[in-house]
Amino acid sequence: WPAVIAVLSLGYLMGSIPFGLLLTRMAGHGDLRSIGSGNIGATNVLRTGNKKLAAATLLLDALKATIAAVIAQAVFGQNAGLIAGFAAFIGHLFPIWLGFKGGKGVATYIGTLLGVAPLMVLVFAAVWLAVAFVSRYSSLSAMVATLVIPVVLWILGMPETALVTAVMTAISYWRHKANIERLMAGTESKIGQKG
Ligand code: G3P
Repeated sequence: WPAVIAVLSLGYLMGSIPFGLLLTRMAGHGDLRSIGSGNIGATNVLRTGNKKLAAATLLLDALKATIAAVIAQAVFGQNAGLIAGFAAFIGHLFPIWLGFKGGKGVATYIGTLLGVAPLMVLVFAAVWLAVAFVSRYSSLSAMVATLVIPVVLWILGMPETALVTAVMTAISYWRHKANIERLMAGTESKIGQKG
């Protein structure tokens, strides 16, 4: 149990660092939560018009999960990495510092994959880019990619990783509720649009 608590705490604390919010504030763009969708992720940072900041947010939000997963894996073994990644995802969604109001977990999802099944990041990127190329919707691209990942993992014979990512997908869909409503209403903003 002490090991499980250590892994969960490490993941959660790493995941709860809101890089999008911090970088946006440091760059003088104000509070990200009052910009665009109000989300704290890279897609919304892009709505400030600062592409480098959005890229840095994606990278850091992903790496916080990767680092947690890699450390946990090194100390406690493969499954610990998966649990730490999951905890980082939860930390990003429910950060204690922001009154438990966080993001949608797409970057931490990618970061977890990078830590525990790195080739899956290529699958994620391919699906994301294909859907984004056609639709220009970041939310839709992420939702399709996160649907594909557990299926591919299952087919490749990684049932534990498939199961945990499937749970992450379900939670992330729930967090994309407003995006789904906007997509259905035709009012979702496209990648690079300010609104
Ligand atoms: O998957 C990207 C998602 O997080 C969408 O962000 O800001 O458009 O709600 P946003």
